[in-house]
Amino acid sequence: MPAPGSALVTGANRGIGRAVALELARRGCPVVATVRDPATAGPLLDAAAAEGLPVTVAPLDLEAVTPLDLPDDLRVVVNNAGLQTGYLPVEAVPLDAVRALVETNYVGQIAVLQQVIPVLRRRGEGVICTVTSAAVLLASPFYAAYRASKAALHALVETLAVELAPFGIRVLEVMPGPVATDGLAGSEYLPAVELPAYRAVAERMMAGRDATRSLAVTPEAAAARIVDTVLDDDAPMRTACDPVGDDLLAAWRSTTDAQRLARDLARYRPGVDA
Ligand SMILES: NC(=O)c1ccc[n+]([C@@H]2O[C@H](COP(=O)([O-])OP(=O)(O)OC[C@H]3O[C@@H](n4cnc5c(N)ncnc54)[C@H](OP(=O)(O)O)[C@@H]3O)[C@@H](O)[C@H]2O)c1
Repeated sequence: MPAPGSALVTGANRGIGRAVALELARRGCPVVATVRDPATAGPLLDAAAAEGLPVTVAPLDLEAVTPLDLPDDLRVVVNNAGLQTGYLPVEAVPLDAVRALVETNYVGQIAVLQQVIPVLRRRGEGVICTVTSAAVLLASPFYAAYRASKAALHALVETLAVELAPFGIRVLEVMPGPVATDGLAGSEYLPAVELPAYRAVAERMMAGRDATRSLAVTPEAAAARIVDTVLDDDAPMRTACDPVGDDLLAAWRSTTDAQRLARDLARYRPGVDA
């Protein structure tokens, strides 16, 4: 993609989104960085100013999407903002937590897409990159509500890729494995541990968090991979942005449902470290 045009990145005040916004700006894209609360954009704006990068901030709450002021030369959209919560067994996860996940990780994303697609379609070019999760590829206990909210996007991306190809719009899904952010830190405590029937598995999963943390890449490393993919006209529709995500995606592509179920049953059965 030789002339990048402008970019929109959601959830850009911290974590992967902030790193992606800065990396896109370094590679020549003026970036509109959306944040839920503009008062939290200081670190992003300071980092951009320190490097002289073209980053502006716009408010966006995925639970109540309002009209966005989109640049005429919009060419890159990175749907990164996401909610990571609700790590409980299906029988116990509060329905309000499920609703918040669906509203933020699915309905809100469509509300943003409904604004950006007409702009890209009129231009006859562009790329839409949606950040889901490699968690979709692994049947971890207690992740059902989160995984399902991301799996909805996983299906949405496939249809969008077909729907928007006639307009010259590329559609991508990036499925991160562990990336060292607040979101990852927030998943270290599993409230399932408070439920006697699920305590043993939850304790083993929490005990394995050191290993997960040691495998996590930095947001900057993940962002470099994401931006490489976004700017590569020949990139595959679905990729990861870190070694754990690469391995999970490769395993998902090369195994049957039965093989993956056997792997995950063995991984999480009582007495085995998760
Ligand atoms: N880190 C990982 O290991 C990992 C792994 C797999 C997938 N992911 C995905 O990667 C993306 C970024 O994750 P991260 O780890 O960088 O997360 P993070 O540090 O927790 O940041 C989440 C971002 O999403 C924003 N957000 C949450 N709810 C929102 C809402 N209702 N409206 C608008 N923005 C909202 C947050 O804004 P506030 O600051 O206002 O809360 C924040 O900017 C997410 O989609 C996540 O699911 C992350």
